[in-house]
Amino acid sequence: MTTDKIIDGKAFAANFLGIVSKEVKRLKSSHELEPGLAVVLVGNDPASAVYVRNKGERTREAGMHSFEHRLPADTSEEDVLTLVAHLNEDATVHGILVQLPLPHQIDEQKVLAAINPDKDVDGFHVTSVGRLWTGGDALVPCTPYGCLLMLKDRLGDLSGKRAIIVGRSNIVGKPMAALLLAESCTVTIAHSRTQDLPERCREADILVAAVGRAEMIMGDWVKPGAVVIDVGINRVEAPERGVKEDGTVKTKLVGDVEYAEAIKRASAITPVPGGVGPMTIACLLRNTLVAACQQNGIEPPVL
Ligand code: GUN
Repeated sequence: MTTDKIIDGKAFAANFLGIVSKEVKRLKSSHELEPGLAVVLVGNDPASAVYVRNKGERTREAGMHSFEHRLPADTSEEDVLTLVAHLNEDATVHGILVQLPLPHQIDEQKVLAAINPDKDVDGFHVTSVGRLWTGGDALVPCTPYGCLLMLKDRLGDLSGKRAIIVGRSNIVGKPMAALLLAESCTVTIAHSRTQDLPERCREADILVAAVGRAEMIMGDWVKPGAVVIDVGINRVEAPERGVKEDGTVKTKLVGDVEYAEAIKRASAITPVPGGVGPMTIACLLRNTLVAACQQNGIEPPVL
């Protein structure tokens, strides 16, 4: 356990990836099994292209097989479903991730539902969601799982802690609640209609912010000594940094929490960038390793 207030997500993720890589090596030598992750990218969204490239690089670095499928923006829903069906059948593919968002002609829910839940390394399939909430062996959404690992590293046993999650998305807020409930926290899910939000936040030993609104959670909403996990990544204008060559104001990334004030009260806090972000890919690779073991009747490592 570190004593530094700032949770270094980059270092935490690098360490976790090292552990995953070691387990991959062990799996290869003991069972001649190489975990494989297929990533499907439809269209030219620049942010998605960067994510997919990073995923491919990290996957190979961890000793896993990376299958990348890049399809043009005008690909039909049927063609994406056909590709997913092939990947479901391919025994060398243990994890399937379809990068979101998808172009408008494709129904995202239909595509996510077509993925074999045993290969659902995103944890977005309704079967994965059901398994998570009923305490089954689920592949858990990567960002909340990364948050949980960082919380446990700081706090150890989470049992009995009061946790508030601000944000109720399917990708972060809801699965985060399920994970903290499974750790025996008393969980509040807050959202845009929550009354007395500052007061509710001040009661929490654990505050997870996942609303996607720049610095919406004020520093004085943080209970002294609380651990703050900031999932938000918001680009805002930063006039203090000057102007770009094209004359527009420079920008910077900030989280959902007013970091400069919150750090004065928190016992630990994740920065943005460099906090939660790096853990997402690390947990994706963890899920791929777990999925590969499960599909081959091998007890997965506890990671
Ligand atoms: N787009 C942005 N983040 C994610 C993610 O975690 N999974 C998928 N499938 N798409 C994303």
